[in-house]
Amino acid sequence: MLEGKNIVLGICGSIAAYKSALVVRLLIKAGANVQVVMTPDATNFITPLTLSTLSKNPVLVDYFTPENGEWNNHVELGLWADFMVIAPASANTLAKMANGLCNNLLMAVYLSAKCEVYFAPAMDLDMWKHAATQSNISQLQSFGNILIPPGNGELASGLHGEGRMAEPEEIIAFITENIKKKLPLVNQKVLVTAGPTYEAIDPVRFIGNHSSGKMGFAIADELARLGADVTLVAGPSAQVSKQSAVKRIDVTSAAEMLNACVPHFKTAKACIMSAAVADYTPSTVAQQKIKKNDNNLSIEIKRTVDILSLLGSQKKEGQILVGFALETNDEEKNAIEKLKKKNLDFIVLNSLNDEGAGFKKDTNKITIIDCNLQKTVYGLKSKEEVARDICYKITELIKG
Ligand code: CTP
Repeated sequence: MLEGKNIVLGICGSIAAYKSALVVRLLIKAGANVQVVMTPDATNFITPLTLSTLSKNPVLVDYFTPENGEWNNHVELGLWADFMVIAPASANTLAKMANGLCNNLLMAVYLSAKCEVYFAPAMDLDMWKHAATQSNISQLQSFGNILIPPGNGELASGLHGEGRMAEPEEIIAFITENIKKKLPLVNQKVLVTAGPTYEAIDPVRFIGNHSSGKMGFAIADELARLGADVTLVAGPSAQVSKQSAVKRIDVTSAAEMLNACVPHFKTAKACIMSAAVADYTPSTVAQQKIKKNDNNLSIEIKRTVDILSLLGSQKKEGQILVGFALETNDEEKNAIEKLKKKNLDFIVLNSLNDEGAGFKKDTNKITIIDCNLQKTVYGLKSKEEVARDICYKITELIKG
């Protein structure tokens, strides 16, 4: 959920600042890019060196960095951020945020930011309860800022009560949950297939194809980014999912892919069959390595089950089924035939005649044809961008 996100982490002068090191570590571990901005007071509680080492970025405190005379552009930082987290947020900083005061770089970034702002207060229980603090918090929430509620427990003063900054793990879980619930495909189960299948001839040989799996993996990643619960059935492929939430099932043959897909399709809202499944498989698999002799060798091959056709015949009301057609001639005619025959909601056509399209490439050029025969032609794009186009269409269909 946090993968690739640009996050400004604001740290204020509070004893809870020592926990910010763990917040940074967890954000980095989750794949986020973190820019720490500290108030001058915060540097009394934790060193910028600790935070720059953990965040892999120089920490910003002042408008100017004296070492290189560089101006730290608060407007740029505010625009760069996908969201801002202020943790710990001291009573003083909350008051400044609520009233638009701007006497340090962190406040300038806050006022420039157009993104969502989370704040995790940290203070003593009486400060927390004070009407002024509570009124500032209400004011910030009315601006759309998001409160990460403080915990109840032992405070730095030795007193017990509310005001402890939420634990770093709780902060990350809170933000992740909040992002997730706003994603368009949250709670939607989707099944994606990718890669080639290998059909064994004997223990060392197989019939395969040149599919790399790049397109299917990019689709699975994009669907996960949109919040879907993704199961990826992958044939032999060197690809790895960028989104850790993608549940991968490795298979080798068309028969194994079929067995993996059928049960998952029953509960899936959508299925995208991007795998290059073998249409034929050897009738028998030799138990021992086939030895050469002077004669030609014939291998009898038989049809595999067309997984997409089978799923099309089992498709229930409201389920969405998407197929691919890789063609070399009569592209649109063939794609439309497959769309109809396999009972699809739309088909993604790519032609080997298009420069930059097809197996192993990092780019693809597609045409989407839907079941009303509406055609959308896309330009040559990276497979990640193509995945975005396909998933946009799927999201539209799911959302109705
Ligand atoms: N497909 C499948 N099971 C198979 C073969 C293909 O599920 N045994 C799916 C592919 O994943 C793809 C679509 O069917 O989404 C189209 O595959 P393609 O090989 O292009 O078409 P075929 O229907 O197999 O027709 P042909 O090979 O004759 O072009």
